[in-house]
Amino acid sequence: MLLVANWKAYVDDLARARELFSLAKRLVRKESGVRVVLAPPAPFLSALASGNTSSVLFAAQDISATTGGAQTGEVIAGAYASAGAAYAIIGHSERRAQGDTNAIVAEKLSRSLAQGLLPILCIGEHERDSDGHYLAGVREQLTTAFAPLTLKERKKIIVAYEPLWAINKSADQSIRPSDLTEMVLYLRKVLGEFLPGKGASHVLVLYGGSVEPGNERGLAASSQIDGFLVGHASVDSTTFAQLVRELA
Ligand code: PGA
Repeated sequence: MLLVANWKAYVDDLARARELFSLAKRLVRKESGVRVVLAPPAPFLSALASGNTSSVLFAAQDISATTGGAQTGEVIAGAYASAGAAYAIIGHSERRAQGDTNAIVAEKLSRSLAQGLLPILCIGEHERDSDGHYLAGVREQLTTAFAPLTLKERKKIIVAYEPLWAINKSADQSIRPSDLTEMVLYLRKVLGEFLPGKGASHVLVLYGGSVEPGNERGLAASSQIDGFLVGHASVDSTTFAQLVRELA
């Protein structure tokens, strides 16, 4: 199982970032079967990743859609790769809320792949309706992301299903395991249009949205997912340790 810890803007202190990284290293040493990826705020990435010999890897929380140059404030994929990131979260709903359209997400995917960063593509509906219209939006997010890519590139994408209504809440307001199972089947069906043969079944699919120690096991057991993208529960040492142990 893969556990991606999205620290968002919760951590503003390098000492705290180092503590969480040390904890992650201790946990992965003890608990086999769990791979941990940390997505720290950009300024901490290099300090944490340089000289890292552990199996804990790093992700950018976002990358610039630009190719660099005269772009004040933009951090391009190559800079993240050089600072030690192996993955990049692309299209998180909190970035989409700041203007990332499906077209921008597609640009970011290709920038990320061009620099050797494995993209973690976030998709998910704002809300659900009883007629299943929300599925069309999710399909659109997937198809606009996958269609421009080569087959080789498509195989590198990790899909993180994160329904917006479940993000930043608590375990009891998160998705039900049966609903997640259904969604994962749907996602793999759509992915089948872009990846022939058994290709779609090899894509790593993560779930994110109020994963906490209270619901993680149930979701992992019943929904054919390959791991989790965790926000708030990943920046608390106690809950983060519980999350890793439960997955082991
Ligand atoms: P949450 O965030 O675990 O705090 O709900 C998940 C995410 O937004 O990636």
